[in-house]
Amino acid sequence: MCADKRTYRVGVIPGDGIGPEIIREAVRVLDRAAEKFGFKLDYIYLYLGGSSIDRFGVPLTDETVEQAKQCDAVLMGSIGGDPVTSPWYRLEPSLRPEAGLLSIRKALGLFANLRFSKLYDDLIDSCPLKESIAREGIDFVILRELTGGLYFGEHKTETVDGEEVATDVLSYSDHEIRRIAVKAFDTASLRGRKLTLVDKANVLDSSRLWRKVVQDVAKDYPEVSVDYMYVDNASMQLVRKPSRFDVILTENMFGDILSDEASMVTGSIGLQPSASLAEGSFGLYEPSHGSAPDIAGKDLANPLATILSAAMMLRYSLGEEEAACAIEQAVETVLKRYRTQDLATDDTEIGKVGCTRMGELVAETL
Ligand code: IPM
Ligand code: MG
Repeated sequence: MCADKRTYRVGVIPGDGIGPEIIREAVRVLDRAAEKFGFKLDYIYLYLGGSSIDRFGVPLTDETVEQAKQCDAVLMGSIGGDPVTSPWYRLEPSLRPEAGLLSIRKALGLFANLRFSKLYDDLIDSCPLKESIAREGIDFVILRELTGGLYFGEHKTETVDGEEVATDVLSYSDHEIRRIAVKAFDTASLRGRKLTLVDKANVLDSSRLWRKVVQDVAKDYPEVSVDYMYVDNASMQLVRKPSRFDVILTENMFGDILSDEASMVTGSIGLQPSASLAEGSFGLYEPSHGSAPDIAGKDLANPLATILSAAMMLRYSLGEEEAACAIEQAVETVLKRYRTQDLATDDTEIGKVGCTRMGELVAETL
């Protein structure tokens, strides 16, 4: 009867720490969305990071990469453990959980990472910035280059003249910058038509190449206004006047740092979804936050960033825009009445709930 139902194959990586519990809630919400909007999701569970090390001895296997490639999209929880107590961090760096994440990004060609920062009206009290700044509105996205730069250059530690010397290479080619610049301009055209390139062009050659390529790509987007900002200044403007940003385009390490800062200006990193996109429609979706091993298994985690990441997956990879909007709307509605502990407030009208209940509430509200 429903042979012609739209069916998608979704790779699911629960991962480590709070990963499995936040993924459980995102899958609950996805199942409800599928039921309501008439499509079907086939899940394939995959191992990455610590869970892969425990099972296979390495943070990412070729089989996982092959299975992920067979999927329309991948949804991920979080990977990694406590660097002081976890045995994973006694392994050499290339065998630790984070190496698995970097490798899967590279193997799947996920060069564009989008992290959205939006301050909901009802969360103004959770915003750590002055109310006068929060009231100006916060709604921007960071496009972070994800498969190049410092994190993928050569890393080495050697002894030179009897002294240890460590080196990490930062390099970018024209095509690596151009393809994400195009994505950023496309994104800006559909939003506030304002793009800020964040770099360190007063010092770095790689940044000067970023400026040159972005100026070139900008010629195809006359409707988008472009400005250029040094990263140190950008980190200050994010807390001084976040309303000035619409689309921020930046290289891998600057994006890593600024996106954590950006998540906090809207109240909690527990609310920030992310999409890592390849050429075409394939993408990997994960919350911006980490695996929070200290609260794992205690029903304290906030599943909303993962649920919002699942909504982004429906939008960007599966083309289910209506379901994506419905999930985002449901999250906004639930936040009016309920919060997890990371967003706790003194308002006695607002109920404090755990991870599972938060997932149920969003699914019920859908
Ligand atoms: C992130 C994380 C990763 C990164 C780590 C875990 C390798 O911080 O997704 O932002 O730096 O990309
Ligand atoms: Mg990071």
